[in-house]
Amino acid sequence: MNQKSWAAVDDYIVDALFEADPVLEAVIAANHDQGLPAIDVSPAQGKLLSLLVRIRGAKRVLEVGTLGGYSTIWMARALPADGKIVTLELDPHHAGVARSNFERSGVSERVDLRVGPALQSLSALGAENAEPFDFVFIDADKPNNPNYLSWAMRLSRPGTVIVCDNVIRDGAVLDEDGHDANVEGARAAFSFIGGDKRLDGTAIQAVGSKGYDGFAIAVVE
Ligand code: SAH
Ligand code: DHB
Ligand code: MG
Repeated sequence: MNQKSWAAVDDYIVDALFEADPVLEAVIAANHDQGLPAIDVSPAQGKLLSLLVRIRGAKRVLEVGTLGGYSTIWMARALPADGKIVTLELDPHHAGVARSNFERSGVSERVDLRVGPALQSLSALGAENAEPFDFVFIDADKPNNPNYLSWAMRLSRPGTVIVCDNVIRDGAVLDEDGHDANVEGARAAFSFIGGDKRLDGTAIQAVGSKGYDGFAIAVVE
């Protein structure tokens, strides 16, 4: 099995199970036109995030790493009318593209996009005494995974679900030599989840249109 068959199976999943979605297609096209890297979650993964938000019954979602808002839109669509997703993005250009994508998708009212280094936005959320989040998706600069997980814990309550993207990295997660900061970030996510008694977690290896990678998933006790 290779990338070609993983991508073909992803296409099959989308064709068999998803309605045609011109809005999300326009989002991906806008991201491309605006020069954003194509590192959003895949359609099948976006749908998984939306299902997890629904299964959790989440009303408040926190996302670290917006890019053009593709994953944000999947999760925002799964929220009830009074739900909210706070999404954090460093790059003002990415944030601008995301904002227009939120308009295009009709989710702007449910999205609170905060521009700047996520660690600053997280500490602002802490200082605001923000209501705890029900669901957290971590998908930004990987070396900060432990810091983001630590903030996720502070902004959570029992039952909060935390998902962390890109923790398998073509299997490079097994490399212990510390030469790749993104791999170290993936390993740090495992250490954090494995080492915190308040978290019960696993990871799912995934192949598909975006290659071989995966999500860590944990619930706060
Ligand atoms: N979740 C998106 C993809 C995010 S890509 C999706 O699936 O559609 C990672 C994003 O994290 C990039 O847009 C990058 O600019 C942003 N990022 C990197 N470092 C960051 C930081 N320190 N604070 C906030 N965002 C950051
Ligand atoms: C990269 C980042 C991501 O969040 C992702 O899903 C895939 C790739 C990257 O920085 O290369
Ligand atoms: Mg990612």
